Amino acid sequence: MKIGIIGTGTVGQTLGTGLKKLNHDVMIGSRNPQKEELQKWVMASGGKGGTFAEAAAFGEMIFICTSWEGTENAIKLAESKNFKNKIVIDVTNPLDFSQGMPPKMALGHTTSGGEKIQSWLPDAKVVKAFNIITAAFMIDGKFGNEQLDMFIAGNDAAAKKSVTDLLTAFQWTTHDLGGIEQSRILEYFAMLWIAYGFKNNIWNHAFKLVRK
Ligand SMILES: NC(=O)c1ccc[n+]([C@@H]2O[C@H](COP(=O)([O-])OP(=O)(O)OC[C@H]3O[C@@H](n4cnc5c(N)ncnc54)[C@H](OP(=O)(O)O)[C@@H]3O)[C@@H](O)[C@H]2O)c1
Repeated sequence: MKIGIIGTGTVGQTLGTGLKKLNHDVMIGSRNPQKEELQKWVMASGGKGGTFAEAAAFGEMIFICTSWEGTENAIKLAESKNFKNKIVIDVTNPLDFSQGMPPKMALGHTTSGGEKIQSWLPDAKVVKAFNIITAAFMIDGKFGNEQLDMFIAGNDAAAKKSVTDLLTAFQWTTHDLGGIEQSRILEYFAMLWIAYGFKNNIWNHAFKLVRK
């Protein structure tokens, strides 16, 4: 499948590399396609680099992997027509770094990044996924023999099925929490991961659901 990634940070690059390994055709977009990190990723992965609009137009499925404060502008630059009827995987977390570390939530309780992105792209099928784990582990949902859990949310059942298939290819066990408004929970769930990291200076944790 052709996949567009909006965002050149660790998340965009890691997902891009993982998707290339699954034999998808990947283009990562940036405000500046010539930027060094993106050019290095293109050389190392054999993927493509372009503008945000080129990556969005290229993708049959599109990942949003931008800093929260840049996300609305990145979507504007990517042009809403390029998202029409497509599955859009929202990996962002609405974090506010303005008061230093650890970050605080920029939104929450009554709305979420996932809902904002769905409202900015009403013709797209937005699925919140991959946001509850650090970038380094996104493309491998297994710690040794331990299979890890990923939670997703979105309004379109078929889109969630496609995202689940992708997560399965990355060895995650996926649980659907419901509509896109459940992003409120998933974004706080990411905060739990972050708070645990800052409190203990441990950065290699992940979530596993157990049942009796
Ligand atoms: N890092 C993690 O482990 C992790 C884990 C889970 C979720 N997340 C979430 O995933 C997202 C990406 O994280 P990241 O660490 O990979 O990268 P990041 O540094 O948060 O974001 C980098 C991207 O944001 C774009 N950007 C920044 N300001 C912008 C603006 N004003 N207008 C348009 N675009 C702008 C940059 O565009 P250019 O390419 O043009 O510079 C770049 O592509 C974040 O929302 C983060 O909270 C991160």
